[in-house]
Amino acid sequence: MAGLPGRAAPLLGLLLVLVPGLLLAQPPGSGGQPRYEPTWSSLDARPLPAWFDEAKFGVFIHWGVFSVPSFGSEWFWWFWQKEKREPYVKFMEANYPPGFSYEDFGPLFTAEFFDPNQWADILKASGAKYVVLTSKHHEGFTLWGSKYSWTWNAVDVGPKRDLVAELATSVRNRTDLHFGLYHSLFEWFNPLFLEDTTNAFKTRKFPTSKSLPELYEIVTKYQPEIIWSDGDGNAPDTYWNSTGFLAWLYNDSPVRDTVVTNDRWGVGSICTHGGFYTCSDRYNPGHLLPHKWENCMTIDKRSWGYRRNAQLDDYLTIEDLVKQLVETVSCGGNLLMNIGPTHDGRIAVVFEERLRQMGAWLKVNGEAIYGTKPWRAQNDTVTPEVWYTFSPEGGKVHAVFLNWPVSGTLELGEPQAKLGETQVKLIGYKELLKWVALGEKGIVIALPQLTPKELPCQWGWTLQLTDVN
Ligand SMILES: *[C@@H]1O[C@H](CO)[C@@H](O)[C@H](O)[C@H]1NC(C)=O
Ligand SMILES: *[C@@H]1O[C@H](CO)[C@@H](O)[C@H](O)[C@H]1NC(C)=O
Ligand SMILES: *[C@@H]1O[C@H](CO)[C@@H](O)[C@H](O)[C@H]1NC(C)=O
Repeated sequence: MAGLPGRAAPLLGLLLVLVPGLLLAQPPGSGGQPRYEPTWSSLDARPLPAWFDEAKFGVFIHWGVFSVPSFGSEWFWWFWQKEKREPYVKFMEANYPPGFSYEDFGPLFTAEFFDPNQWADILKASGAKYVVLTSKHHEGFTLWGSKYSWTWNAVDVGPKRDLVAELATSVRNRTDLHFGLYHSLFEWFNPLFLEDTTNAFKTRKFPTSKSLPELYEIVTKYQPEIIWSDGDGNAPDTYWNSTGFLAWLYNDSPVRDTVVTNDRWGVGSICTHGGFYTCSDRYNPGHLLPHKWENCMTIDKRSWGYRRNAQLDDYLTIEDLVKQLVETVSCGGNLLMNIGPTHDGRIAVVFEERLRQMGAWLKVNGEAIYGTKPWRAQNDTVTPEVWYTFSPEGGKVHAVFLNWPVSGTLELGEPQAKLGETQVKLIGYKELLKWVALGEKGIVIALPQLTPKELPCQWGWTLQLTDVN
C-alpha cells in the first residue's frame, strides 16, 4: 500500500464525477464495442463491469520480500534505509551481520510451505468473490518471472517459483473467485525511477522500460480481472502513461470485457479517475457515495505485510470485520480485506480464522450482502449500528443489527411498515417475527428468545423486511 500520508480524497474531483454521462467522449463504436480514447473523460465513462459491484467482498494479499524481515511494516526497506527509523535500524543491527542489504533478504523468501490449492480453499471459505495479490510492491520484486525484473523476481530468486501463476491457476481451478493483481507503479530505489525523479519527470526511462512493460506482461500472461494500481511516486499520470495503458486494457486486452481498475494512476487521479474509487487506505466514509468505491483495509491494524512482532490485540476481531463489511456495503462500497502471508508461504492461523469466520457469517447473511444495492437510508436513525441494504429482486430491505438488544425488541426508525403486508424475518430463523408500526415511520420488532447456541450466527444479525417503504 502507499502508506504515504495526506492522500485525502480530493472532494472537488469527486463532485465533478457526480455527473456521469456528460463526460462521454466515445466515438460511436463501429457496430460493436465502443473504443475508448486515452483520455480520462473517455475512460471514466466506461461502465464498471457488473460483477464487481455484485461481489462486495474480496481478499487482499500483501506478499513479497518484505515478508522476510516481517518486522514493523511492508515499508520496511524505506523505513530502515531511507527514513532510518530507530526500531528498524536497531532490528537490523541486532539480528543481521554488518553490510547485510535488503537484497540479501531475497534468497530468504523461500515459500516452502506455499500450497496454492490450500490458499484457494481458504479464500473460498471466506466468502470472498475476488482476490487481489501484490504482484509487485514498492520494493520492485515481482512475484512472477518478469522479463523486466532481472534477478529481482520470485522465479530467479527465493522460491524459484512463479507465485502469480500458481495462485491464479489454483484460484481458477478450485473456486469461482475473480483473480486480481495489485501493481506498484513506482519503486522506491530503482535507479531509473530516481533519475526520472531528479529530472522532474521530464524523462520517462522508468515507465517505458519497467512499469509499463510489466503491466502489459501481467495482463497478457495472467489475465487478471482487477488491476489494482498503487504508488504513483508523486508523478503525474502523463509520466506513467496511465491513460494509454487503460485505453489498451479496455479496448484490446484479453480482459477488456471483464477487467476492473481502481483510481491510483498518478498524482490527482485518486478518488477522481479510473474504475472504482479507493480514495485513501481504510476509506470508509459512513455515507452513500454516488460512485462505486472500495474500502481496502487490513486485519492487522498496523501493517499490510506480515509482522512477527504483532500482538493479538493488533488484529481486528471478527466483530470489527463484520461491522466494516456491513457499513461499507450499505454505503455502496466493496470491502477488500487484507492478510499478509509469511515468507515461507503460510497464511498464519489468525488470518485463516478471521477468513473462515467471515465466511461462516456470510453463509448465513450473504443475502444481505452479495448483489445488493444501497437502500434509501444507510443506517438507522433510532438504533445505532443498524445498517441497511436492499435486494431489488423481491424488494427486500435488510437491516443488519450489530447489537442484540437486551430488551428483546428492536426499534427501527426508518422503515415504513404496512399492516397485513409487511413481513419481518430473521435470517436463519424459521418463523416470521411479530412487529408493530410506529405511526408513519418506524417499527418495533419482537426478536425471538434464543439461547446463544440457537442464534443463527454470532457477530451481527439480519432482519429481512418485505413490503416496506
Ligand atoms: C484442478 O483441480 C482438480 C481437482 O481439484 C485436479 O485434479 C487438477 O489437477 C487441477 N488442475 C490444475 C491445472 O491444477
Ligand atoms: C502511451 O500508450 C499508448 C498505448 O500503448 C501509446 O500508443 C502511446 O504512444 C504512449 N504514449 C507515450 C507518451 O508513451
Ligand atoms: C448514522 O445515522 C445518524 C442519524 O441517526 C447519523 O447522525 C450518523 O452520522 C450516521 N452515520 C454513522 C456512521 O453512524
